[in-house]
Amino acid sequence: MQKVLTVDGSYTLFSKQYNQHYHNPSDGAVHESLYKHVLPALTHHEKKNELSILDICFGLGYNTFTTLYWLLKTASNKKVFIYSPELDQNLIHNLQDFEYPKEFDFLKELIKSLRLKGFYEDERVHVKIFIGDAREYLQNIQTKIDIVYQDAFSSEVNRELWTKEYFAQIKTLLNEDAILTTYSTATPVRMGLHVNGFYMYENKSEFTRNGTLAFLKKQNRDFFIDMELKQQRNPEAKPFFDSCQENI
Ligand SMILES: C[S@@+](CC[C@H](N)C(=O)[O-])C[C@H]1O[C@@H](n2cnc3c(N)ncnc32)[C@H](O)[C@@H]1O
Repeated sequence: MQKVLTVDGSYTLFSKQYNQHYHNPSDGAVHESLYKHVLPALTHHEKKNELSILDICFGLGYNTFTTLYWLLKTASNKKVFIYSPELDQNLIHNLQDFEYPKEFDFLKELIKSLRLKGFYEDERVHVKIFIGDAREYLQNIQTKIDIVYQDAFSSEVNRELWTKEYFAQIKTLLNEDAILTTYSTATPVRMGLHVNGFYMYENKSEFTRNGTLAFLKKQNRDFFIDMELKQQRNPEAKPFFDSCQENI
């Protein structure tokens, strides 16, 4: 793994195994997490006092940590339950050596607990990491989820977390007002969400490239993505399937 400085001053890693960065260096690790995931999700659920979050996948933990940072910064007293699968045990064990932004300094105890015990809890915050395959983990989740941070490596190398069947599995776990956030704008990914009945909106931010927000109910917001129209214009468009796992 190679440490890489991103444009907002925060660090990410480059994975030689997947041949990809954990975050896009030209968006920034913190910016990507904040603007593509955390802000849209917390804004959508502004009024809920308790949130269950599925963080796919933990990696360096930016999405979990930025969520907790933002709740602290806004003096929110929401209760959060964060569930996060991650294949790479070694990465979790070495989290304390990673150079996070100083805004995450208050998370030192939490990070220590995650690497030693795989979970952290206090009165307001519960975080649990599952070491293993996310698809397997999803079969055993009992809780209904309000927020999914869909942040696997891209579909070229991490196909099992972007297929029609995967999104069908995710859908069974969601509360009806849930939001799924992702950096991906790829047509097959959006098709996978569309055929499972998700409504999608372009997530635009001045700090990052566009992402996608997906919901089970139609929303009263801008930038609706009309997938029916897209499909009419491109009848070849289709989702990724579990049965077709080869890289493209
Ligand atoms: C893009 S990184 C996640 C970045 C993370 N959200 C962060 O903020 O640092 C993708 C992560 O998914 C993990 N991963 C890939 N395939 C997985 C799977 N099938 N199950 C669980 N974790 C997986 C990788 O080990 C890697 O840590």
